[in-house]
Amino acid sequence: MIVLGVESTAHTASVGIVDDAATVLSLASDMYRPKAGGIHPREAANHHVEVLPGLVEAALAGAHLSSREIDAVAFAQGPGLGPCLRAGATVARVLSLAWQRPLVAVNHCVAHVEIARVLSGLDDPLLLYASGGNTQVIAHGRGRYRVLGETLDIGVGNFLDKLWIEVGGVFPGGPAIEAEAQLGRELLELPYSVHGMDVAFSGMLTAALALREKGASRADLAYSVEVTAYAMLTEITERALAHRRREGVVLGGGVACNERLRGMVRAMVEGRGGTMFAPSRQLCVDNGAMIAWTGLLARQRGASVSVEASAIEPRQRTDLVETPWRAG
Ligand code: ATP
Ligand code: FE2
Repeated sequence: MIVLGVESTAHTASVGIVDDAATVLSLASDMYRPKAGGIHPREAANHHVEVLPGLVEAALAGAHLSSREIDAVAFAQGPGLGPCLRAGATVARVLSLAWQRPLVAVNHCVAHVEIARVLSGLDDPLLLYASGGNTQVIAHGRGRYRVLGETLDIGVGNFLDKLWIEVGGVFPGGPAIEAEAQLGRELLELPYSVHGMDVAFSGMLTAALALREKGASRADLAYSVEVTAYAMLTEITERALAHRRREGVVLGGGVACNERLRGMVRAMVEGRGGTMFAPSRQLCVDNGAMIAWTGLLARQRGASVSVEASAIEPRQRTDLVETPWRAG
């Protein structure tokens, strides 16, 4: 089976094609980058409408496939920004109708988790999903992905993006802070906000900006924010691991690109005798291949949705969707 997946939940428009061995046959992505400030949903959606047709062409060409060889079209139904979701869903509906192939709706968070899981080779790992909008520790149980812990306010990536824009940088902040943190020397004290298996970041954002006002360098701030925020994520992951006793931990989401986070979680997991896996950067950030792969898993179990019933779900949570392709 070969599935084409369309991703458009936020800043990135992307089309990926995968086969049933989870081989990424092609991936074509284009990220909307605001000149200043954060994402404007309608501008991002306009960007997606403009680039998606070309990305579909590029993905087919990259995989050396014609549209006749695509068995299903998957799209990210939610969660995400309404106008952005609508752009991708519209393209997927058109392809499904034109090619006469089933349309499959996919949850974006589950897709981050499933692509990381299949690449890890681990059957039932614990998952740390750290992205712009989401920060969740997840384990599978009773037919769904269960959120064991999560952010109580903003996602860790949004926190990094907001901080970076406030200190004069441009979106996305995560990779820029990672580079800047290399130059940091002093570990500044910041609020460490862990509540059981949950975390919060808005207090750290306020405190970091106050330190900047008082003259802290961007490098020390970047270094301190990374160490503090990623220690928080490592702690809640360790707590969840102690409770759920999984064989390993898999990272997903854009913030999982971060080498410091990878290293801290790896040290923790390996210290407990487990294994840690994180996908390549292009498969950590938003991408069409993860949507295609999760659509393929669902399609193998017969899933499809009519165009009439394919409405987007901007607030669809990870733990709201059934995962019939997984046992237990
Ligand atoms: P979601 O809907 O899953 O929350 P998203 O729209 O935020 O997804 P992703 O591509 O999964 O999109 O993640 C983007 C986030 O990842 C941004 O906040 C960005 O700053 C962050 N990020 C990307 N690379 C790095 C990095 N190297 N270090 C830290 N953060 C990073
Ligand atoms: Fe994402």
